[in-house]
Amino acid sequence: MKKTEKQKIKVLISEEEIKRQVCKLAKQINRDYKQKNLLVISVLSGSIVFCSDIIRQLKTDFSLDFIRVASYKDKKSTNNIELISSVRTDVRGKDVLIIEDIYDTGKTLSYIKNMLLKKKVKSLKTCVLVNKKTTKQEETGIDYVGFNIEDEFIVGYGLDYNGKYRGLPYIGVL
Ligand code: IMP
Ligand code: MG
Repeated sequence: MKKTEKQKIKVLISEEEIKRQVCKLAKQINRDYKQKNLLVISVLSGSIVFCSDIIRQLKTDFSLDFIRVASYKDKKSTNNIELISSVRTDVRGKDVLIIEDIYDTGKTLSYIKNMLLKKKVKSLKTCVLVNKKTTKQEETGIDYVGFNIEDEFIVGYGLDYNGKYRGLPYIGVL
């Protein structure tokens, strides 16, 4: 990344704040998932950094799978959610925890939840790093939330703008 591009990014949530909040979320998850058949599903690609930080703090046994969907083009959410690849695990009877980066319009999480519910999971919860204060087009319950922010386009800590900035250790606004 060019130095000039990096300078344009304003820090919104620092590395330390993220660490503290991830630790709190992991504690809640550990408390809620004792003796459960936990399957963690990370929504690619944005949630990988968040998910890898969460799972390294889990005390309970779990398995891990991934879903890849696409909805964003540039800085805009499109109306079509495209399922690029689904889980490989048989989710029936599993206690599923979806790990997602951002809850914005709600369309992506609604889509994923509906898809998994049809496959007869035993329980289904969602953990999102950031909830944006936007008008939700599809309201769906979120069980664990890292941060609530205004409607701003953010990058870093796994989040990208057209494929860039995922490696920043903090969350910034372009
Ligand atoms: P939703 O379907 O509108 O809730 O959109 C959620 C998806 O859009 C998230 O999974 C992100 O991948 C992406 N997204 C939404 N806002 C941002 C942002 O500010 N930065 C990067 N990606 C975003
Ligand atoms: Mg996403």
